[in-house]
Amino acid sequence: MTNFSTIYKLSVVAVFCFIQACSGSRCPMIECWFVQEKAGRGGGLTGATTQEKSLLHIRTDAESHISESQQAPSDINPNRVYIITDPAATLCHHSFNPPRGSIQKPHCEINPFLPQPSSLKWVASLTESALSPIYLQADWFSASFQGVDEQLGVSTITRAPTGTKEHDVILSVTSKTMSATTRLGEPVTLDCGFWADSSSPLFTSGFAVEWRYQTRGDGRLVLAYDGKTDRLADTLEEGATLDFEGLHKRGNASLILQEAKVRHSGTYICTVYLPYLLAQVAMELEIVEPPSLSIHPSPLPLSVPGQTINVLCEASGFAPLPLELSWEFKGADGKTRSLGTGSMSGHRQSWDGTYSQSTRLELDTSKLDLGRGGEVTCVAVHAGGTRRASVTLNNIVFSSPSIEDSMAMVGVALVLYGLIKFVSWTFTGSDKTDEDKKEK
Ligand SMILES: *[C@@H]1O[C@H](CO)[C@@H](O)[C@H](O)[C@H]1NC(C)=O
Repeated sequence: MTNFSTIYKLSVVAVFCFIQACSGSRCPMIECWFVQEKAGRGGGLTGATTQEKSLLHIRTDAESHISESQQAPSDINPNRVYIITDPAATLCHHSFNPPRGSIQKPHCEINPFLPQPSSLKWVASLTESALSPIYLQADWFSASFQGVDEQLGVSTITRAPTGTKEHDVILSVTSKTMSATTRLGEPVTLDCGFWADSSSPLFTSGFAVEWRYQTRGDGRLVLAYDGKTDRLADTLEEGATLDFEGLHKRGNASLILQEAKVRHSGTYICTVYLPYLLAQVAMELEIVEPPSLSIHPSPLPLSVPGQTINVLCEASGFAPLPLELSWEFKGADGKTRSLGTGSMSGHRQSWDGTYSQSTRLELDTSKLDLGRGGEVTCVAVHAGGTRRASVTLNNIVFSSPSIEDSMAMVGVALVLYGLIKFVSWTFTGSDKTDEDKKEK
């Protein structure tokens, strides 16, 4: 009986924990900046925006009610409280639902959105056929979210019947690689996926995907694909592709770069188009390659005290800048000490975009207490990791012999003395016998 009741209690606890876990992953309530253009007075060019706090209640099902316990904070205007139905549950990811009282909060911005046909070559086919525009007559919002783990970004287009506060997600675009780092020459996948509401009349007319690269004023089209006509736009970018099967089957619009190059570092924008709608996520890619080091001359020449040796350490093939170079010396006693940075050269950039830089060390063997020598090491500290290269320094040292050396010398002297004695005795002895023979 006691066994049975224990099992019973344990299962009650287990069920309770299960319910707790479920409620732990329930859809969040996200605070969001509602940003819109200031209503222009007299239609002047204002360009200014207003920013208000808003609150988004997320649910996956239009039937489920928002619980009463989720009251809006007092600093939020009740007119800016929205209910968003997200059947794909993209916004219910734990990254948007940090534990209560946590300092980190997801970033969110929401704006009014105006559906319109696109004139871009790879999107235009989506709005060729006349489409009932009545569906478009509604309140549309575009929102972007970034989770607390900072690798998850979501952008949504939502629709609500005019004047209501209950929005449905019609299109969402997600990336799980908001900032990616890779080494030179490696294949890169920048994640981007989309979900579209299959019950929307806009769904049947196809989609388009566009990847754009942007950095400090420089922008280019990496890839553009019209999913309706199954056509890729002409681009100059080599080695960039999509998984077309995954794109059509699962909405996987990830960009695959076959081989990372330095010029690939920058911002990538994944844009997914439905007829009249678009949503986009921007992510960062950084190519980080640590340097290769070489020391000249290697090996170092034998040095006598008072001589100055020039040692050059050359770091090449690294990206991005900066790089810190320094020198270390490790003596016969095993202790390591710094020899400073040496004199650094400026950096040079090679054809493949990687950098090289060097530092020259003047090793004054008399000023430094280098003993009999040791190991001279060049240390390069870089975002891609720390690299080291070493050469051996041999100092010729004149010094008084140690006790062991003296004793060895005495030993050698004694042995030599004995040997000489023995040889001379042998020779004089044999000479005598010869003379004896002659006398006989
Ligand atoms: C999307 O495609 C990329 C490239 O083929 C792949 O690495 C990734 O795992 C895919 N993602 C999903 C969710 O299927």
